Amino acid sequence: MSATTTAKMAPIEMFLRDSDATDSLARALAATQPAHASVYLRGDLGAGKSTLARAWLRTLGVTGAVRSPTYTLVERYDTSRGEALHLDLYRIGDAGELEFLGLDDSDAALWLVEWPERGQGGLPPPDLRVELAVQGTGRSARLLPGSPAGETWLARLSEFWWVAGLS
Ligand SMILES: Nc1ncnc2c1ncn2[C@@H]1O[C@H](COP(=O)(O)OP(=O)(O)OP(=O)(O)O)[C@@H](O)[C@H]1O
Ligand SMILES: [Mg+2]
Repeated sequence: MSATTTAKMAPIEMFLRDSDATDSLARALAATQPAHASVYLRGDLGAGKSTLARAWLRTLGVTGAVRSPTYTLVERYDTSRGEALHLDLYRIGDAGELEFLGLDDSDAALWLVEWPERGQGGLPPPDLRVELAVQGTGRSARLLPGSPAGETWLARLSEFWWVAGLS
């Protein structure tokens, strides 16, 4: 084992009792996000992925409609942090279809990707994975860093969360 090995950060887990709590998480993530971030939103149908993405985009100043990209696969937004892409790959045939969306050269500040497992190989690797699951009448959320930037982000998020008095 090398002397430079660092401990892996434990995932952050929380219970979101209603959709307002999902919105609060989105606002905290938006407030602490790095300049460029790729975020994979994972969870079954109805787990709250779009709810989180919509509140996140609104926090970044998007005032018009936030449409679900279920059929278009991607929606693009101008935000206070630069371009944001919201993808929903549920209906993609195979990851090769991503090429036709012309995202390769995108220098987007934020990627919010629903059903990322269907776009494997055609997406930027995640800085953050958000795993959502139905739990009773609410949702459980698990946040896992995917990169060093993601680790710093989650550390900042914990601090923000604590200072803002959220739980
Ligand atoms: N924490 C929560 N507690 C209870 N309900 C929630 C919570 N977060 C979101 N919801 C509700 O869950 C429903 C489904 O949410 P949403 O459309 O965001 O799911 P999704 O994961 O994007 O689903 P899909 O895979 O079909 O796109 C919405 O009615 C939303 O208000
Ligand atoms: Mg959705």
